[in-house]
Order: sequence, then structure tokens, then C-alpha cells
Amino acid sequence: MADTLSPATGAEDDTFWSDVSDHVMRYGPKFERRVIERAEGSYVYDTQGQPILDFTSGQMSALLGHSHPEIVRTIREQIGRLDHLFSGMLSRPVVDLCSRLGSLVPGLEKVLLLSTGAESNEAAIRLAKLVTGRHEIVAFSRSWHGMTGAAASATYSNARRGYGPANVGSFAIPAPNAYRPRFTHADGSLDWRTELDDAFALIDSQSTGNLAAFIAEPILSSGGIIELPEGYLAALRKKCDERGMLLILDEAQTGIGRTGHMFAFQRDGVTPDILTLSKTLGAGLPLAAVLTSRAIEEKAHELGFVFLTTHVSDPLPAAVGVTVMDVVEKSGLIERARTAGARLKSGLETLQQRFECVGDVRGRGLLLGIDIVKDRAGREPDLETGDRIGAEAMKRDLSMNIVKLPAMGAVFRIAPPLTVTDDEIDRGLELMAEAIDAAQKG
Ligand SMILES: Cc1ncc(COP(=O)(O)O)c(C=O)c1O
Repeated sequence: MADTLSPATGAEDDTFWSDVSDHVMRYGPKFERRVIERAEGSYVYDTQGQPILDFTSGQMSALLGHSHPEIVRTIREQIGRLDHLFSGMLSRPVVDLCSRLGSLVPGLEKVLLLSTGAESNEAAIRLAKLVTGRHEIVAFSRSWHGMTGAAASATYSNARRGYGPANVGSFAIPAPNAYRPRFTHADGSLDWRTELDDAFALIDSQSTGNLAAFIAEPILSSGGIIELPEGYLAALRKKCDERGMLLILDEAQTGIGRTGHMFAFQRDGVTPDILTLSKTLGAGLPLAAVLTSRAIEEKAHELGFVFLTTHVSDPLPAAVGVTVMDVVEKSGLIERARTAGARLKSGLETLQQRFECVGDVRGRGLLLGIDIVKDRAGREPDLETGDRIGAEAMKRDLSMNIVKLPAMGAVFRIAPPLTVTDDEIDRGLELMAEAIDAAQKG
């Protein structure tokens, strides 16, 4: 077990850690050696009562901070009134949330409520297969869409080996990477159009004529905060239309205001055929949604579409979703993502000027990334320094989330709650500077 625990920080409880060692299955990440007791706002607190600034909104989800009073109130009220139902029964919170989400974007009127991100992508892919009558699914080579069957088949950034065959007809194309471009213009900048044309020529040569859908994150988060450049989504939409494929956008992390728009695709003026939402929609509670057009929903229904799960249309998480939408609207959090994001980004750019190892700062709104490199010119990822920075940050009570992909970089994903204050942003930046400084010396 020792190799999956980071060094002790003084908040050790022997029984707790021996129980972890004896009984908790390891599922990927190194466990932080601090026992978390409670959370509030932008902080989680360990058993010593020490606040840790949460710059990743839990698992990129706690959009309103932890234990937001209105979410707490909603859950307390709703759990005592109506918690869970037979899947063929509907309730007010479910229809309220479907109406609320389905009124946001013309062309995405019909809504299905589920629990997790993987599940929402599973449903989206199933829907696309049924209505197109095809089965081939294309995704980005640095994507993350979840750990279940079809979602995992379309996930290429990690965790692919050792689990047997992926779905037949799973294809990947490179994500356009402005910092480490594969195709360049004469001035060295990313030539994403040529890259996209080249990628689709390869897809066409592999396809058996059964292309059903492309699934994409507007900003690839687990892939290292790779933003689709302006114009890319429209060009991708065109590639899909030319082939009769549907475009599925997965806004698990970018949806509900995080990038400074309700949905990230709104910057690009491109509407997907199917939109999936999860993490941020429940602001930390398990809630996900699939949105599509009336025409697609009608066709799927005629063809007998089934996506029946235990927690489909559950009232308790739906009530949370309604409150999330209320708070985002009432508190002007979409605008706040822009202004707080600008403050954070400018602070990160200052760190970039100060520290050679901060090679790139990128992202939108409050979904930002810093790319840790060995040297500015070579842009070679520095995974060891990235690890040290993460550990030094945690020593200073700052939680940041590092993505480490050898070919891609050591990228910190920085995504505090939309409710983060200016003081918390400034404090986080100070701690980050100290952590980078200490990591470089160490
Ligand atoms: C973009 C994206 N889609 C889907 C998922 C999967 O969501 P879940 O873990 O809730 O199944 C994630 C999780 O990290 C994600 O980042």
C-alpha cells in the first residue's frame, strides 16, 4: 500500500491508515495522506481542522464550492419528501430540471436525467447508434469520457490497456494542440485545418461506412487542458455532416458556466446533436443529463430507444440540479467565471514569467492549466518537477490536480469553484509560487 500513499503530513491516524491498507481497494490515484473530515466553500478540512484550498473543485465538480447552503437546504427538504422512484414515474423536480435545461439552446430541447458522466456518454452513444443505424465512434486521442463500456472505448488519454477489446469501430484522431503542434504554418503556429483534414482522411480509409458519431470535449481536460481553437468545432461539425455522423459534445467539466458561457460550445456558435452534462450539473452530487433535439428524440423513440437505469429521473438529484441552475443564475456565476478566470489567468501568467518550468498557461474562464516543462525551448514535459510541485502545494494546504501524460505534459488543472473569492485566488497563487519555488530548489 505504501507506494500509493503520499508522505504523511502530521494528520496521521494509525487505525485509519491500517484500515485503508486492509480494506480499501486501490483504483488509480495516489491517496493523499490526510483524512478529510469536512468541507465548506473553497476549502476542505482535515481531522486537525486544517483548511486545504481546493483548486480542483473536488473532482472538477463542486461548482458552487462545498456544502453550499442552498444545496444543503434542498437536499434536507427533498430527502424527507421524495427521494427515489420507480423509473416509469415522473416527479416535479425532474420535469422542472428537464424544462430548465431544455429551454437553454434551440435544438437541444429533450432531456434525459442520469447519474454519472460515463453513463451520460453511454446513453449519448447508444442514441447515436440507434438513430444512425451505424456503430463507428470517433473521439480525440487524449479524450476522457468515462469508465464504462462505450464511454471507455471512446477514452484514449489513459486506462486503455489490459481490459480486453474496445468496441468494434472505435477510432481516434489527434486533438489540436497549439503548444505542441503536429502540423504547423510557416510561422510555427498550429495548422489545425490540415491536421483535421489529414485525420479524417485516415478515418475514411478505416471506416466500413458505419460512422455514427464523433464525441468531443470542447476543452480536453484530462488530456491536459487542450482547447479546441476557434473555428475548430465548426469545421468538425462540417466533417460530421458530410458523413452523416452526429456530433456529441461532452461538457462534463465545461458545462454550467465554468468557461464563462453556460456551455463552452456557445463561444463557437455550433450546436451539437447531443450534449452530455455531468460533474458541474450536480455541483458534486451524482447527476448527469443528455440533451438532444426533438427530431432525434422522436426518431429514437420510434425505433424503441431504451436507456433504463435504477436512478434515471430520480427526484433527489434533480432537485439539486434545479438549485444549481438557480444559484448559477441568481449569483451571476457565469460572468464571475470570466472575471475570476481573468484574475487567475493573469496570476498564472505572472508565474510563467517568473519560473522557467511554467511553459504554458491555457484554458478559459475557471478551467485553466499550467504545463510544466524541462525547458522553454524544447517544451519537454517535466513529470518529476510536476510531482514535486503538487506535493509542495499540498504541504502548503493547496490542492491542485496534475495530469501526467508522458507525450503530452505534466499539466496542472486549475479549476476552483465559481464561488471562489478574489482573496482565495490570490492566496492560491501565492501558495503555488511558493510550491514551484520549493520544488525547483528541491
Ligand atoms: C469530460 C468527461 N467526461 C466524462 C467523465 C466521466 O464522468 P464520471 O466519472 O462521472 O463517469 C469525465 C470524468 O472525469 C470527464 O472529465
